[in-house]
Amino acid sequence: MRPLHEGTRRERTVKCESRLVRGGRIEKSHELACKSDYEKPRNRVQSIISVKNLTKTYASGFQALKNVNLEIRRGEIFALLGPNGAGKTTLIGVVCGTINPTSGTVSADGHDIIKEYRAARAKIGLVPQELSTDMFETVWDTVCFSRGLFGKPRNDQHIEKVLRELSLWDKRSNKIMQLSGGMKRRVLIAKALSHEPQILFLDEPTAGVDVDLRRDMWQMVRSLRETGVTIILTTHYIEEAEQMADRIGVINKGEIILVEEKAALMEKLGKKELILQLQEPLSALPDSLGEYELALSDEGRRLTYTFHAERDRSKMAELLRKLAELGIEFKDLQTRESSLEDIFVNLVRAKS
Ligand SMILES: Nc1ncnc2c1ncn2[C@@H]1O[C@H](COP(=O)(O)OP(=O)(O)OP(=O)(O)O)[C@@H](O)[C@H]1O
Ligand SMILES: [Mg+2]
Repeated sequence: MRPLHEGTRRERTVKCESRLVRGGRIEKSHELACKSDYEKPRNRVQSIISVKNLTKTYASGFQALKNVNLEIRRGEIFALLGPNGAGKTTLIGVVCGTINPTSGTVSADGHDIIKEYRAARAKIGLVPQELSTDMFETVWDTVCFSRGLFGKPRNDQHIEKVLRELSLWDKRSNKIMQLSGGMKRRVLIAKALSHEPQILFLDEPTAGVDVDLRRDMWQMVRSLRETGVTIILTTHYIEEAEQMADRIGVINKGEIILVEEKAALMEKLGKKELILQLQEPLSALPDSLGEYELALSDEGRRLTYTFHAERDRSKMAELLRKLAELGIEFKDLQTRESSLEDIFVNLVRAKS
């Protein structure tokens, strides 16, 4: 007998393949996603989380989310950036079912977070921003208990693996109150991973943790992604997002102001600076250089040319030629690329 979906099989395969290669690398998670898409036509969507027209007004009357629309792709690392009070934790809370939305819909892996709360929540692991866990329980018990909350059968092997990966195995019999702050944070991560979620939210996981733990944490995030887990993180350490994320979302005052592939964002909004230390100070910029975005500083000793990384590539050589013609000599030359942090600060400032 011919399979029911044979007619569309070829088309789907092609679509899947076009999603497979990112940065020249085959994405295993996407491959898996495509297979399961085929087996379950209901879940054919590429997004694992779909947020539509979401608003949240707290009882105080404060509107923390304003018509948020956001699609999180299966298997990606998505960094949600925004200043304090932007609405990041509120958004995460709504997706995880701890905060009721005022209007709009959210689905997680095809399950509506309100109508199919249990099924949606079972797909999600949450590492909350605030430390809150039972201080008198042991590490082992609290992590096992978390798994049980999702109705998953006991699996000591999985819990042991999680505790070992987070360097908590030696502390498994300690009560939570006997752990350091960083270790408590690891326990929160172990709890979030206890029920083998497909989606992991990390709400400022590295706030206040030491360099070692931060490095371990990012290693863990990368290896989770390798197994197909989708990761959504918030951080105020923007260089972390720059290193880790596939895509970046920026939220400000309850509104999503940008969602973009990280590489495309940095290319599109990234600026470069050419900094020249001049041999002789200049009192003013020559009129003939009016078309370039130039600034003099350090009492005329430093000339800075700001240009668009992609668009103005050839203009740098042109400027250097013109300077030579004008007899302006320099003893040192440096270039600087704007970081994601510069881009982020400019974006938020422009919207304020
Ligand atoms: N229970 C609440 N009642 C009223 N207002 C609230 C409540 N919880 C949060 N808010 C407000 O909603 C806004 C968004 O808060 P939220 O915690 O989502 O911000 P955030 O982006 O996570 O900030 P941060 O980076 O500081 O963690 C803030 O102005 C906050 O004061
Ligand atoms: Mg927050």
